[in-house]
Amino acid sequence: MNKKVTVPYLIEQKRSGGKFTMLTAYDYPTAKALDEAGIDILLIGDSVGMVVLGYDSTLPVTMEDMIHHTKPVARATERALVVSDMPFMSFQISAKEAMRNAGRFVAEAGAEAVKVEGGEEIARTVSRIIGMGVPVMGHLGLTPQSVHQFGGYSLQAKNVEDAKKLIKDAKILEEAGCFSIVLEKVPAQIARIVTESVSIPTIGIGAGPDCDGQVLVVQDLLGLYEKFVPKFSKQYAHLGAEIRKAAGQYAKEVKAGEFPTQEHSFNADDSVLKALQDMEDAEKE
Ligand code: KIV
Repeated sequence: MNKKVTVPYLIEQKRSGGKFTMLTAYDYPTAKALDEAGIDILLIGDSVGMVVLGYDSTLPVTMEDMIHHTKPVARATERALVVSDMPFMSFQISAKEAMRNAGRFVAEAGAEAVKVEGGEEIARTVSRIIGMGVPVMGHLGLTPQSVHQFGGYSLQAKNVEDAKKLIKDAKILEEAGCFSIVLEKVPAQIARIVTESVSIPTIGIGAGPDCDGQVLVVQDLLGLYEKFVPKFSKQYAHLGAEIRKAAGQYAKEVKAGEFPTQEHSFNADDSVLKALQDMEDAEKE
């Protein structure tokens, strides 16, 4: 449980049939808690754009946003593998740009691997990044950076042609050197076929129980993003409601003069108070 999670460890988990966990993290305290809870992989997902920065999609997220959020997660994490998501436009333009950006995540921000969305069309880029020694996690199925191409966030790989393409893309990513593949919002039976077709671990989100690992967006798990709750997610806590309760109580106590009390205050030295009193008395004379 305390052993550092590495890429070879995750591949071994697949061989031995062990399940593993991934959650997103975007800040120091959350990452520290998730790491201490034994989560195996912390993903600084570009979902930060929606669940933390309040955008309608992940498309406006920049490299600078991702570096900014990766740094505190890397500082907080001791055991989990730290993986940064390559945002829209950071890897699609050229393999050279993708290599530079992947390198920045490792050298500047402390990531140990990167994640990229896409299949066959990015295989060459994936190989080049791996060639520089940076492990790559793939991402197939519903790839949110292609939301406009899909026309929304709908279930993928529903027909024979798309399911065949998903299986083919997974094999291509494995051949390109990916150490794992996220499968997002695809039918459970198709995810199982993909999982059985590759020797690297699959990590499901809305992809049923048969993937080698599972991932959720931490705000969804904690009940902190209330704009939309995906069907495939599970709220293990309701922190949005807890925050409203705590902030409401604070406001009530301040307005009623109940906070802060003596217990939360600092006392001046008697000598200081006496000097101030003497000054005031002298001014009066
Ligand atoms: O950005 C993200 O959080 C992701 C996960 C949903 C896998 O890509």
